[in-house]
Amino acid sequence: MAAAATCIAVVAVAMAVLAPGARGLDRRADFPPGFLFGAATSSYQVEGAYLDDNKSLSNWDVYTHTHPGKIKDGRNADVADDHYHRYMDDVELVRDLGVNSYRFSISWARIVPRGRLGEVNSAGIAFYSRLIDALLQKDIQPFVTLNHFDMPHELETRYGGWLGAGIREEFEYYTDVCFKAFGDRVRFWTTFNEPNLLVKFQFMLGKHPPNRCSPPFGHCNRGDSRREPYVAAHNVLLSHAAAVRNYRTNYQVTRDG
Ligand SMILES: *[C@@H]1O[C@H](CO)[C@@H](O)[C@H](O)[C@H]1NC(C)=O
Repeated sequence: MAAAATCIAVVAVAMAVLAPGARGLDRRADFPPGFLFGAATSSYQVEGAYLDDNKSLSNWDVYTHTHPGKIKDGRNADVADDHYHRYMDDVELVRDLGVNSYRFSISWARIVPRGRLGEVNSAGIAFYSRLIDALLQKDIQPFVTLNHFDMPHELETRYGGWLGAGIREEFEYYTDVCFKAFGDRVRFWTTFNEPNLLVKFQFMLGKHPPNRCSPPFGHCNRGDSRREPYVAAHNVLLSHAAAVRNYRTNYQVTRDG
């Protein structure tokens, strides 16, 4: 999950080199029309607030607490950058970078903590709604990633994560809730962050939850590195297809997304 953090660092360094001391100037005025230049984060890496406002535990919350040796220095993201509470400051920082777009991911466990068999969490919807409004108010285009390696722990347990075919309906349901709640303001959507790496880290190398792999690729308690990554990839692709079909059929035209 290092890629998103690297993006922010690269943008920050580039802006510092190009415009030392120009903090607060609106360099965006120099962009060609339609040009988007941005920074990016992912929910688990920045939000913290891992038990706040009816969010359920995600696969990463459980994994970092139960496999302390897997993360450098036994750390976790219970607090992280505390973006959940400090998002207004963070939007201000993004604005000061001089970029005009910002990509973030939504935490599935905040929106539908128990999947499609439970309730939609209005507090989770309200959080991303406030974030999107704050970005738009600063003329920053929100880019929403619907899945950046995380899912409710309960769904990982129920379906074996991306190994189980039932996860496709769950993803379609969760993404529909997002399109409905944020589609009036968000035009740019990504279904999966790095799906190739998602299945590789989860089911071939076993470095990410649910920590499944087999020799010679890695040493996990369970898994089959020669088979499972392909099963998971199959379900990820069909989940993507279901979300895209739903968006194109029911949201794209009216919302120009
Ligand atoms: C969390 O859920 C409970 C039970 O549905 C509800 O009473 C409470 O208002 C919710 N909290 C927030 C912050 O939405």
